[in-house]
Amino acid sequence: MRVPIIAGNWKMNKDVQEAVSFVKQVKDELPPANQLETAIAGPTLCLVPMVKAAGKSPLKIMAENCYYKDDGAYTGETSPYALYQAGIHHVILGHSERRTYFNESDDMINKKVKAALKNGLCPIVCCDDTMGRRVTGKKVHWVVSRILADVHGLTDDEICHVTIAYEPSWAIGTGESADPDQAAEGCYLIRQTISDMYGDNVANDVRILYGGSVTTANINALMEKQDIDGVLVGAASLNPATFLQLVHH
Ligand code: G3P
Repeated sequence: MRVPIIAGNWKMNKDVQEAVSFVKQVKDELPPANQLETAIAGPTLCLVPMVKAAGKSPLKIMAENCYYKDDGAYTGETSPYALYQAGIHHVILGHSERRTYFNESDDMINKKVKAALKNGLCPIVCCDDTMGRRVTGKKVHWVVSRILADVHGLTDDEICHVTIAYEPSWAIGTGESADPDQAAEGCYLIRQTISDMYGDNVANDVRILYGGSVTTANINALMEKQDIDGVLVGAASLNPATFLQLVHH
């Protein structure tokens, strides 16, 4: 049984005071984590104060990125080990903005995914809609080449700690969400890819989210789809009241 997730990704928005104020406003209004998981990814500087503000509430605080080394001479990077020690147990990896503006390759993301898992962090691995086609027998399957590369070499147990977010780059921050059928198709194709790699039992355990211009207006139609286990929300997660509406959709 896959527990659905409503996750916010603030990107490089909010200072520490704003972040803490948001957490205090939402933390007592959330459902129990075994019914619906709620999470916010904030800027690195805000994470420790957010964890403190969230206390024992169900709200999970996530990092938006981390490096693949635990420590060393890597100026400006964030250690997955240090994140875990600070109470942050989830990290977004491979967001299209990281790939586009910071030239992160699939190889780099694969290293980060492995380092995150080794340190106890659960990664949300993002992939966009750059899909290749593969022909098996007479059937044509889509295969998500990004996913094949980003989770390459993970064990069955490790992949079950990974959440995948299907975020078509044309839908991110544009106000043009994929329609629910398109979004569901992307998530379904990703699950098929995981199934090809790990088998049906594992694929049925892995949660797959949709992200890209999710709002209070379209969340219901998206969450009704069988293969969409949740949403990763950018702009609409910045306002506490709107975030709560998304959670209680
Ligand atoms: O990770 C979330 C994201 O990239 C979508 O952003 O603003 O289109 O909801 P937005």
